[in-house]
Amino acid sequence: MSKKLNIGLFGFGCVGEGLYEVLNKSNLLNAEIKSIVVKTKNKKRTLDESYFSYDSNVILEDPEINTVVELIDDAEAAYIIVKKAFEKGKNVVSANKKLIAEHLDELISIAKGKNLSFLYEASVCASIPIIRNLEEYYNNDSLSGIQGICNGTTNYILTQTNYGKDYKTALKEAQNLGYAESDPTLDVDGFDSKYKLQILIKHAFGISTSPEDIFNYGVRYVTKENVNYALEKNYHIKLISHAVKLADKVFGFVAPHFIKADHPVYAVENEFNAVIVEALFTDRQLFVGKGAGSHPTASAVLSDISALQYNYQYEYKKAESAKELYFSNDFAIKIYLGSKNEIKLKTFDFHEKDEIFQSREYNYITGWISFSELLKLDFNKEEDLFFAVLPEPFKSSEYFKRSEKEELLFA
Ligand code: HSE
Repeated sequence: MSKKLNIGLFGFGCVGEGLYEVLNKSNLLNAEIKSIVVKTKNKKRTLDESYFSYDSNVILEDPEINTVVELIDDAEAAYIIVKKAFEKGKNVVSANKKLIAEHLDELISIAKGKNLSFLYEASVCASIPIIRNLEEYYNNDSLSGIQGICNGTTNYILTQTNYGKDYKTALKEAQNLGYAESDPTLDVDGFDSKYKLQILIKHAFGISTSPEDIFNYGVRYVTKENVNYALEKNYHIKLISHAVKLADKVFGFVAPHFIKADHPVYAVENEFNAVIVEALFTDRQLFVGKGAGSHPTASAVLSDISALQYNYQYEYKKAESAKELYFSNDFAIKIYLGSKNEIKLKTFDFHEKDEIFQSREYNYITGWISFSELLKLDFNKEEDLFFAVLPEPFKSSEYFKRSEKEELLFA
């Protein structure tokens, strides 16, 4: 028998409104929104003002509300709300990737101590059911890698600029379509993709990371030269959240990648996201779906609400085997590095260079480089530098230290 859920909803933006609509259309659920708390008074909304309250205690102090659905975009305010909800014995559903990336272990521990559920399927790739799959289907330690397009806004921008639109127009459209964060820096500089990668790493490999551990570089400064290089080689540029496990290490970062035409995410366009799971026995599996937008995100929230009716909780089964694993940036990748200024390229120490191109207008190098070389700079602030990962498996940094170049490939 399913449990009756009395929901207190925080936030009535793009996703909150979407949830209200999909919940009303879904008659399968024994669930009802009892109160909605929002921050701003007198804002134009699709429901009458009388539906809203402005004090979080209307939900948090209501003993009849057993489920808090947190869909606000302020991660710090969400942190306070979620902790208080647990204190009051309420289960929580959230879509707030920043909150989760920054505070997951603490929130897991509080929820566990009170035997409450904390579910957040909508926080990663919206409609793609990746977290529950990582928890339930891939519930062993056979995973070797996880990578994907985890941000709808940047995929929309990259798709549209590939078709000739300019960056600013494409970003504006992504904002109007409800894909972008209120602060789109989080999208275009790869922070949003990083928060999602952290959550994926937790559920794929069992290890915890903090946002400072993981390098994120976005798509703010992709130039026409970079796009042209990609077109010439028949690549698509995609912002990829990438993690690989090798022996006792997990490597992970967010950066633009040049994607070949036979790669599963090559044709994933606009707000669609994709996740590739690599496992020892299944090889590669691809999940694709809408990664941003009101109803796709609300559908994942709805699925969590539905799971709560049966008291579902994530079990974090991989935490035990993860005790032997640690996060590392000690690896090498093959990249394309471009700049108008040839001198800038010379400051990077490549292990091996494949191609060196120089002209009065633009210069680039392709070759193998230690990832630590790239950590020297905040690429999101370097207007005249662009790098993208080329389609080659990563190598252990040991590879370039050996005299016999024994292949140490992974990814
Ligand atoms: N801004 C996010 C994106 C929303 O563009 O993917 C969904 O998390």
